[in-house]
Amino acid sequence: MYFDHAATSWPKPPEVLAAMQACLERAGGNPGRSGHRAALEAHRTLQEARRKVARLLGGVDPDRVVFTLNGTDALNLAIKGAARPGDHVVYTAADHNSVRRPVHALTLRGVVTSTCVSVDGAGVVDPDEVRRAITRRTRLVALPHASNVTGAIQPVRDVIRAAHEHDALVLLDAAQTAGVLDLDPSDPGADLVAFPGHKALRGPTGVGVLYVGSRAELQPLREGGTGAESDSPLPPEALPARLEAGTPNTVGIAGLSAALDGVRPEAALAHERALLRRLVACLDQTRGIHVLGPADVERRVGVLSLTIEGIDPQDAAAILDESFDIAVRAGLHCAPNLHRALGTYPAGALRASFGVSNTEAEVDALAEALKQIAAQG
Ligand SMILES: Cc1ncc(COP(=O)(O)O)c(C=O)c1O
Repeated sequence: MYFDHAATSWPKPPEVLAAMQACLERAGGNPGRSGHRAALEAHRTLQEARRKVARLLGGVDPDRVVFTLNGTDALNLAIKGAARPGDHVVYTAADHNSVRRPVHALTLRGVVTSTCVSVDGAGVVDPDEVRRAITRRTRLVALPHASNVTGAIQPVRDVIRAAHEHDALVLLDAAQTAGVLDLDPSDPGADLVAFPGHKALRGPTGVGVLYVGSRAELQPLREGGTGAESDSPLPPEALPARLEAGTPNTVGIAGLSAALDGVRPEAALAHERALLRRLVACLDQTRGIHVLGPADVERRVGVLSLTIEGIDPQDAAAILDESFDIAVRAGLHCAPNLHRALGTYPAGALRASFGVSNTEAEVDALAEALKQIAAQG
């Protein structure tokens, strides 16, 4: 039983596997590089995927959809591409290390100054705190759409309003929401939206996306061949080529493209919340188990972390794996600041995260296993 969809969804739909195989068989050229059919077919594969992602984002300009290696790569590109020397960056205690570490690296190098905004006991950001943290020099405000630890959905619209009042760009980390929540960047108004293709979108690993809005001007993280303007020593000005130097993961992008055909955010969210509700109802009655994050399931995506009195989360995860054949994730979940705020640092917590392939029977089995473990604590 697989409850680690917040790390990566699994299993992948058979259509994804078939599309990747078909891509290798029929579209094996290097997209945008040569004029022969295999290269043109690869280019078409890429552009079709770009159009589908643009539709997922509420109909944005496909040229503003940049393919990256994963969520981390998209976030690094957004942060390091937007920041200029002397800028100030605001991020939050709910952020994943893939935001915290690039901001920290820029801060250590003296390129930017930064402020980490705290969160409340449920792991939720207060937009007024963000407003107070913004200075004249703030170029970028980063926040997660939903937490990868508690699943808590952040007050994105209010944070964006606060940032835009001060002309700062907003980077939305949609790693835990792409495929389950509406991602239209014009509503709520994010300037940059980063997400991997391998979580709720159910694509393969190795592909991420950065949407670059018209207010954002990014420097590339890497320069190199793009197949166009080859005589110039500079990267092309035009998106997406400007930010996509080098041969892309065409096979992975073909897989993501097939996955996008099956993405139904509303249905996925309803399914995950129904499972979440079921698990919370079972665990509420269980002595020694403490669920983290907002009590109201409507304020979450399908991610739930908990602690068990007297049992280290890593030990509990090992028992679930070895004795019950249940896969979850224990520890700090790459979000140590959030665990500090939740009072679960340094041991972290046990996280179960749901996907469309999970069933009620599996959730019942997970609840029963957790009860047995808690009884030993
Ligand atoms: C909130 C959040 N941001 C960013 C990432 C990084 O994504 P990736 O693992 O695709 O680099 C993750 C992955 O767990 C995440 O949960």
